[in-house]
Amino acid sequence: MALKVALLGCGVVGSQVIRLIHEQADDLAARIGAPLEIAGVAVRRLGRRRDTDVDPALLTTDAEALVTRDDVDIVVEVIGGIEPARSLILAAMNSGKSVVTANKALLAEDGATIHAAARANNADLYFEAAVAGAIPLIRPLRESLAGDHVHQVLGIVNGTTNYILDKMDSSGASFSDALEEAQALGYAEADPTADVEGFDAAAKAAILAGIAFHSRVTAADVHREGITEITATDVASAKAMGYVIKLLAICSRSEDGRSFGVRVHPAMIPRTHPLAGVREAYNAVFVEARSAGQLMFYGAGAGGAPTASAVLGDIVAVGRNLLAGTRGPEESTYADLSVHPMGETVTRYHVSLDVADKPGVLARVADMFAKQDVSIQTVRQEGHGDDAQLVLVTHRATDAALSATIEGLREMDIVRDVVSVMRVEGEDAS
Ligand SMILES: NC(=O)c1ccc[n+]([C@@H]2O[C@H](COP(=O)([O-])OP(=O)(O)OC[C@H]3O[C@@H](n4cnc5c(N)ncnc54)[C@H](OP(=O)(O)O)[C@@H]3O)[C@@H](O)[C@H]2O)c1
Repeated sequence: MALKVALLGCGVVGSQVIRLIHEQADDLAARIGAPLEIAGVAVRRLGRRRDTDVDPALLTTDAEALVTRDDVDIVVEVIGGIEPARSLILAAMNSGKSVVTANKALLAEDGATIHAAARANNADLYFEAAVAGAIPLIRPLRESLAGDHVHQVLGIVNGTTNYILDKMDSSGASFSDALEEAQALGYAEADPTADVEGFDAAAKAAILAGIAFHSRVTAADVHREGITEITATDVASAKAMGYVIKLLAICSRSEDGRSFGVRVHPAMIPRTHPLAGVREAYNAVFVEARSAGQLMFYGAGAGGAPTASAVLGDIVAVGRNLLAGTRGPEESTYADLSVHPMGETVTRYHVSLDVADKPGVLARVADMFAKQDVSIQTVRQEGHGDDAQLVLVTHRATDAALSATIEGLREMDIVRDVVSVMRVEGEDAS
């Protein structure tokens, strides 16, 4: 007997899910043990032209009725956003359906409710496509690494910002020119806020941290900074020192293992770091675990077909579970670790200062760093006379100590401007 799939949404991802279900029908049936059949497709606008050959008779605007239909086995939610996606997923689970979703925003905002409903109804919840598109990451963290102890998850999880920063690095373009190009090529939305301000990456970081550290994490727990303030000068300065600027999502355990930090911000990484070679709109995630060591996952982080590949993998998993009368893994939050404040995060910093061209300036600046216990690794001067800038790279220090240092520097008469402050990641602790 066929397994019936209700699809919520037929946009960029949904239309490709339909195409793959049709094109790969025989293989999917063999892999699952039963054929898949599309029971219905909920959309907002019935008359819209679709990029797929969906039978018009399957389209409906009554998503609520579709997800509660007795003959539906699996509900695939690719509408996005919080509502009506949340209510539809809950209604589906409450009527006994298993759910596959690509919805990072919902899982990062209210994953607890969705996971609780899955548990209460003995339903499956799979969401591989919610983080980094085609890249298998949720299943490796949830299943393959379930026997290990993850220390850190560090990665590029937003293709739009990576495209923009890569263009700035390779061509010297300004942020706004690179953004315009990304929009013209379809890599950035007309309203790019979710990407360039780091909201999209923060939602993914929350999901990754929760799974990696067996704790509950929401988007509100994530320290978030976007890339809109990055200038062509910052990029050139990083380049001159052998670094490249990337928007990173970083989930890392504290040294005592009792808490962890989750943050999304631009950072300089050495050009020799594997993440430095991630170009254009690609994503890559570095996982460090106690026994497995370093692992890297790389690939297309978005796009209809790549994301649909991850959705299909989940549909196959749910289909197999249904036939076997079993379920996939539940949410695991037993460790219940706390998220530590950003001020306790320890990293290195690159600081550019516009200073007066006077003797003794360097000593006074160094003094201000020393006062906050931030030790300086390298100092160099860029430019001469009135245009001179001091560029300092620190050893590891807490974010709180660095913030206090910057505050102190801003008050010094010899510091005309704190031109930029950027974290440096991906180097050995020193
Ligand atoms: N696009 C990607 O590359 C990508 C990558 C990873 C994850 N995702 C996630 O996948 C999900 C879908 O993204 P997408 O890019 O495919 O979005 P999209 O192109 O905007 O498609 C959304 C679909 O949902 C339908 N819809 C909207 N509101 C609805 C409602 N109230 N009731 C029923 N249907 C409704 C729309 O109907 P109409 O067609 O009639 O307007 C459309 O078919 C999101 O959670 C997104 O974060 C996307």
